Amino acid sequence: MNEGLLKGKKGVIFGALNEKSIAWQVALKARKHGAELIITNSPVAVRMGTIHELASVTDARVITADATSMTDIDNLISESMRHFGGKFDFILHSIGMSPNVRKAIPYEQTNYENMLKTLDISALSFHRILQTAYKYDALNEWGSVVALSYVAAQRTLTGYNDMGDAKALLESIARSFGYIYGRDRKVRINTISQSPTPTTAGSGIHGFESLVDFSERMSPLGNATAEECADYCIALFSDLTRKVTMQNLYHDGGFSSMGMSLKAIEQYNKSFEECDCADK
Ligand SMILES: NC(=O)c1ccc[n+]([C@@H]2O[C@H](COP(=O)([O-])OP(=O)(O)OC[C@H]3O[C@@H](n4cnc5c(N)ncnc54)[C@H](O)[C@@H]3O)[C@@H](O)[C@H]2O)c1
Repeated sequence: MNEGLLKGKKGVIFGALNEKSIAWQVALKARKHGAELIITNSPVAVRMGTIHELASVTDARVITADATSMTDIDNLISESMRHFGGKFDFILHSIGMSPNVRKAIPYEQTNYENMLKTLDISALSFHRILQTAYKYDALNEWGSVVALSYVAAQRTLTGYNDMGDAKALLESIARSFGYIYGRDRKVRINTISQSPTPTTAGSGIHGFESLVDFSERMSPLGNATAEECADYCIALFSDLTRKVTMQNLYHDGGFSSMGMSLKAIEQYNKSFEECDCADK
């Protein structure tokens, strides 16, 4: 594979907690493709996670920022511009958290304070970052911004809870700001809708293992891994995709276009044979 796709480019990557994180894989690949990086996470994640290991292998600078704090985001973007000596080229938003999911509070009994936190951390943070980068005119022409989403924005998947609402808002923000950034700055904004992936955030979803198994059986190409997602991010940060913007791009082995697959129906039928429940 060509390894210079991001040569001369500079970017900020949010959300690398540990090596399972999608953002971690993106940082590794972006560096391999020649990018200069700043990596960032919340104060607790920087303390508890292993981001400094990633910083040392990618020659990146770490700047701590809580994505729900306007002060932190302002400091991050202005400090990034100082560090890079001016504008930069790409941003990855790879942030998600739902207190309702964490506390196993079902959607029909949602706690609204938690729900506001879910929306704030997982979606409004994207608006905050884009608004601040716009204010400082931080991105070069033909720059690219990517946020990670999930098909629960369009379809209901049991257990995904208020994160489905957060992803719908995230994708809408990508379109709304995509227009403004395209018109005024020639910058692309897209979301990648990724397969279920075994990471810290992913594994917090109730029934996650079954979701992974189900989508693996439903997808003609199988689930996409974090590493494969990183490849797609690199393509979107590169100059090969300059006119792709305001899109929600499925990276899910075909899952989002399927109704029922042979593999899934075989498993479904097998469950009836095994459970002696034909009349139920
Ligand atoms: N894992 C999956 O199945 C899957 C599928 C589709 C989309 N996604 C999305 O991919 C993105 C990355 O998640 P992941 O699966 O790599 O899990 P992860 O747990 O490794 O990453 C989530 C990140 O969000 C960060 N974060 C949480 N609160 C924050 C805050 N207040 N400020 C700054 N950062 C904060 C965490 O520290 C963590 O690094 C998320 O948007 C997630 O919803 C994940």
